[in-house]
Amino acid sequence: DSPLRIGLAGLGTVGASLARLLSTRAQTYALRAGRPIKIVAVSARDRSRDRGVDLSAMAWFDDPVELASKAEIDLFVELVGGSEGAALASVKAALNRGIPVVTANKALLAHHGVELAKLGQKKNATIFFEAAAAGGIPIIKTMREALRGNAVHRVYGILNGTCNYMLTRMEKEGIAFDDCLADAQRLGYAEADPTFDIGGFDAAHKLALLTSLAFGCEIDLDSIFIEGISSVTNADIEAAAELGYRIKLLAVAQRTDSGIEQRVHPTMIPAHSALAQVDGVTNAVAVDTDLLGSILLVGPGAGGNATASAVLSDVLDMAKGVRLPTFAVDAKQLAPYKRARMRAHEGGYYIRLS
Ligand code: NDP
Ligand code: HSE
Repeated sequence: DSPLRIGLAGLGTVGASLARLLSTRAQTYALRAGRPIKIVAVSARDRSRDRGVDLSAMAWFDDPVELASKAEIDLFVELVGGSEGAALASVKAALNRGIPVVTANKALLAHHGVELAKLGQKKNATIFFEAAAAGGIPIIKTMREALRGNAVHRVYGILNGTCNYMLTRMEKEGIAFDDCLADAQRLGYAEADPTFDIGGFDAAHKLALLTSLAFGCEIDLDSIFIEGISSVTNADIEAAAELGYRIKLLAVAQRTDSGIEQRVHPTMIPAHSALAQVDGVTNAVAVDTDLLGSILLVGPGAGGNATASAVLSDVLDMAKGVRLPTFAVDAKQLAPYKRARMRAHEGGYYIRLS
């Protein structure tokens, strides 16, 4: 069978892990996909950097947009990051050629998901994004496929590995905020600009995607109340512990009487609850539905191999010809949607755990 030819833009934490796995497990993946999978073209900024993988047989592009526009490929994998610039332009270039896209870029999709999904629909090219929410946890497949027959009441959880890693170390080891952040960056968990993590924006990007899938509604990033962990101190964490609580950065989307409420903020949760046990870079996503009740998915939320695991599931799906709508994109598909803005002074920081 003819190989699936991948163009890979981004050879950082996730991209280099993906390239290494596609090389070291080539035979296994060929069996699973029913055809060989080959990276034929790559792009990054620094050509001289050792990525721990042999790139000599792959065409090199300094510019991801040029790769997406010109390389002879069947699939474009975007692991560059950022909601604008090279990431946006290269994904558009690939879709415009009718080439499907795999991306882990939640910022891109939270800002441009519907526009890109419409373009993909027009050009008959699917956008896969399992890695764009909660790292390695298969939450996108769960929401889009396994829960299709349910009505979702609420989706919530810990969606940022960097913040959870930091809060855990601040609590358990008494380490200062800045030192914890530096370690998260060194381990490859943080975004290129870590303000996205500690400011709560990365969790909000992921929540916007999950909300859209959970409620079949438009992506509405602007309506999310966002407060990050920048002002959480070791003393706050200690005080919460004395009262029997732990502080977690939670992302919550729920149906209320006045519409769909979305919020991201540090929350005191009872120390004995399941969510409070989620430590380190681990993420957790809870979904409350009418038929199933509540489920909780827990697993690594960031890191090279954990994220590459989700990217690989998309690559293998694509290789096998799986096609799923990305987001609801037109009026006929969209569920009625009304935004409910959270008001903190009305006790909005509270969450009743299921
Ligand atoms: P990195 O910053 O480690 O890697 C980014 C890569 O893109 C690098 O190889 C960099 O090149 C390249 N790059 C950046 N800008 C350009 C440009 N203008 N032109 C060409 N190449 C460029 O990011 P990550 O691997 O951590 O993340 C990639 C994506 O995956 C992001 O969207 C992120 O949000 C998402 N993600 C990351 C997770 C993680 O745990 N790290 C988890 C889930 C999602 P060079 O190496 O030469 O600098
Ligand atoms: N910076 C993100 C996090 C990467 O820490 O969760 C995974 O999306």
